[in-house]
Amino acid sequence: MTPLRIALIALLALLVLGGGWLAWQKLRPPLTITSATTSGTAAVGGPFELVDQTGETRRDGDYRGRYMLVYFGYTYCPDVCPTTLLIMSRALTLLGETAPAAAKQVVPLFITVDPERDTVEAMAAYQPSFHPDLVALTGTPEQVAAAAKAYRVYYAKVEDQASGTYLMDHSSFIYLMGPDGAYLTHFDHLAQPEEIAESVKRHIGG
Ligand code: NI
Repeated sequence: MTPLRIALIALLALLVLGGGWLAWQKLRPPLTITSATTSGTAAVGGPFELVDQTGETRRDGDYRGRYMLVYFGYTYCPDVCPTTLLIMSRALTLLGETAPAAAKQVVPLFITVDPERDTVEAMAAYQPSFHPDLVALTGTPEQVAAAAKAYRVYYAKVEDQASGTYLMDHSSFIYLMGPDGAYLTHFDHLAQPEEIAESVKRHIGG
């Protein structure tokens, strides 16, 4: 048993114990979304300035005129993030197959909540595991905090004593934003790719 294996097993045990509680936490939509839906105002979304996996500066305004699928997570996430990003990737592939014109209007964004470890290089190494169009964004802790605040995304560092490293606890929703940058709907991490593709297609009207 290498120290890495021991650390991974300890992490896994922690995840199993905390899994139930976390799943419940993550399934609860943030209150702001509920109020956004009822008041009809866009409480989710807003300006951001980040850096993509190629080192290029990206602002939310760069994507005006296109629909954005936005997901916040981090590359060290052992389970929910990679699964959700695969679901998002699969949804885009499905959309590309059934409604190629609609698919061209969608840009998938992955924004890290762990800028400390998710450098441009880390994002560049992570991105190829997912849809080729995926834009993997990082930035300074301040830039990331501003983006997360705009999207009402909760995240917090959780120290792991056993491994001496940390996990990020974070809300896990895929947001669909309109061509004007306004919030349209969101999907939780249990949504199926078919559902997401259908919903996006419906919103685009293709
Ligand atoms: Ni995660």
